[in-house]
Amino acid sequence: MSYLRLVRNFDTIIMEFKTIIEPFKIKSVESIHMSTEQERIAYLEKAHYNPFLLKSQEVIIDLLTDSGTSAMSNEQWAGIMRGDESYAGAKSWERLEFEINDLTGYPYILPTHQGRAAEHILYSYLGGAGKTFISNTHFDTTRANIEFNGATAIDIPTPAAKDRNSSDPFKGNLDTTKLDSLLAETGSDNIGAVILTVTNNSGGGQPVSMQNAIDVSAICKKHNVLFILDCCRIAENAYFIRHFEKGYESVTYREIAEQMFSLADGAIMSAKKDALVNMGGFLAVRNEALAEACTSLLIINEGFSTYGGLSGRDMEAIAIGLREVFDADYLNYRIKSTRYLGEHMREKGVPVIYPIGGHAVYVDAGLLYPHIPTDQYPGQALVCELYKIGGIRAVEIGSVMFGKYDEDQKLVPAPIELVRLAIPRRVYTQSHIDYVIEVFDEIIRNAKNTRGLRITKEPKFLRHFTAHFEPM
Ligand code: F0G
Repeated sequence: MSYLRLVRNFDTIIMEFKTIIEPFKIKSVESIHMSTEQERIAYLEKAHYNPFLLKSQEVIIDLLTDSGTSAMSNEQWAGIMRGDESYAGAKSWERLEFEINDLTGYPYILPTHQGRAAEHILYSYLGGAGKTFISNTHFDTTRANIEFNGATAIDIPTPAAKDRNSSDPFKGNLDTTKLDSLLAETGSDNIGAVILTVTNNSGGGQPVSMQNAIDVSAICKKHNVLFILDCCRIAENAYFIRHFEKGYESVTYREIAEQMFSLADGAIMSAKKDALVNMGGFLAVRNEALAEACTSLLIINEGFSTYGGLSGRDMEAIAIGLREVFDADYLNYRIKSTRYLGEHMREKGVPVIYPIGGHAVYVDAGLLYPHIPTDQYPGQALVCELYKIGGIRAVEIGSVMFGKYDEDQKLVPAPIELVRLAIPRRVYTQSHIDYVIEVFDEIIRNAKNTRGLRITKEPKFLRHFTAHFEPM
């Protein structure tokens, strides 16, 4: 099959030129409604100043998430037609099982409808009261699945992650000194698992080095605890290893990923990211007994073990996407175009988290709007400005998402007021990205006059999705 030949050993001539061209042609298009600022002011008011409540038709450039928003290739669409929808033992399952096994080396594979379903299965089995999970940074659904079952989730990112001035290329790393002492303190019986998230989404989308994975693996072996990779952006992470870690310059992206999988006991993947599909996920493990226990939960919660939460056509698309994502031209374009956006924003004086990560650019809205107090949500002010000025939808990941109230109903703010601009894979062109950069000129011009917001209505949990706001 042609897609099997996509992986190359060396980058091509495209790398020699300054202009990043998309390594694909467009075969099918989806039109964008080019709204006016007047229209957007009305849409935003109707959405109570919460971009989650906008209709997608009201958005020009949607950078809310890189999850499930990829454009599929012609090969993937062809695979969709080949989907075998048999309940048990479908050909499409054989193909997916082969691909995941070939990539990860793990013998037991459980297909799920998305990442959090795999998290639910594994962490409810391993977790419960008294158990502790340790990660570079737990993604919010990971933390929720762990805490929902009464276990504790501890984040121990590398100290470099907090250092704004550090240009450490691997700020996604886990603090291995802390890990060793925590495991010695807690004792292996009380540990659910150590989870290494690559790249570290909640930690600013920063990559994790191979050396860090090697060290985490050795420490987990020493203390006899389970080591799980959250591998949803492992291809993007491999790009950073090849280009920024010594010794990997001539190793292919796929081989780098294979090496990382070889260090862990299992992996969870939301296929909505680096498998380039709109829905899907899996859990893959080495241990037979663990796989059997999880398979029972899979059948109860998702579906029979040869489809889990997926239709045959989904499994075909994932199998093909998992190959395509390691294509050198694709990864080169992907990481460079994210970097292009971040570097240009930085040149304009936008305070971005640096170095730029793989799937998104993160803005420190607290620094952009120092006059807006945290209880007037500088991040929410920025997402509203981005929408109003440019029709761009981004997500606040500051005190709206992570803020809590104390006993006096006073806001305990998040440690940092971030806004994430996540870039869907293979969807937007360089001119879309140039447009976003241009919109930031206006954001900066308006910065001093931008006002904060107050919350007028909020649910008890996960308030950022549905809260209502009004401008101060
Ligand atoms: N792990 C990580 C690191 C993630 O980024 C996500 C999802 C998940 C697990 C859960 O996967 O959505 O398929 O259930 N991240 C999305 C985002 C939602 O916007 O970053 P899922």
